[in-house]
Amino acid sequence: MELYDIHAHLLPGVDDGPADLAETVETLRLAHDSGTRAIVATSHCFLRPLHTPVEELREVFERTTSELARLAREREDCAFLADLDFSLGAENYLSSEFILALERDDVLSLAGSKSLLIEFNPYLSFEIMKSALARVIEAGYTPVLAHVERYRIFLREPARLGEAMAMGCHAQINAESLLGSFGSPRRRRAVEFLKSGTATVVASDLHNADNRRSRLGEAAALLSKRFPEERVREWVLDNPRAIVRAARG
Ligand SMILES: [Fe+2]
Repeated sequence: MELYDIHAHLLPGVDDGPADLAETVETLRLAHDSGTRAIVATSHCFLRPLHTPVEELREVFERTTSELARLAREREDCAFLADLDFSLGAENYLSSEFILALERDDVLSLAGSKSLLIEFNPYLSFEIMKSALARVIEAGYTPVLAHVERYRIFLREPARLGEAMAMGCHAQINAESLLGSFGSPRRRRAVEFLKSGTATVVASDLHNADNRRSRLGEAAALLSKRFPEERVREWVLDNPRAIVRAARG
């Protein structure tokens, strides 16, 4: 199945993703082998100590893109890179620093769309989360909440996620959570959120070519055993693509 991945730590030498360009290439090779044809580089932004400034992320992205294009032309074993749509975004940590940057409109949305991938402090209260999300929406962006199945608030009170969705947010699930042990609360909630339509996207959140490689293809295969293929395609291709194509309002 063709996959469109909107959460991936791919840029070399910035956050806790690939250490260098060679590792970025291997990471992309594995993702491509499992069906990924479009991928957004979402390095950590505003999360200390993994933060990289927006300007630096733009520069690293430009440099990486031209290096990947050169490899695609010059090396037969890298030809697959030409078959991969690679764009820039960020995983924005919801903080006062992020809100200030948002007010200056100095944030990285998903591939220049109106959608902003957002992560939180795991202990953030729902009230604070909600008022911060309202500011993001006021600024003209659509929040895409990263790996919602990892937050205690949504595990304990799943209706809270429905409240965030009613505000106009999207919710993303990590592929890895769907492949976790049977019966684990995280896996159970991840499936429930998808089944109920509360969460609409599955992404890899890949970090490397090793223990945190893309498992999006595996997750799609597993979901296909339980849900109709067209629903799975919505989670891994149609919905993420629509989120990235959403023009700024
Ligand atoms: Fe991430």
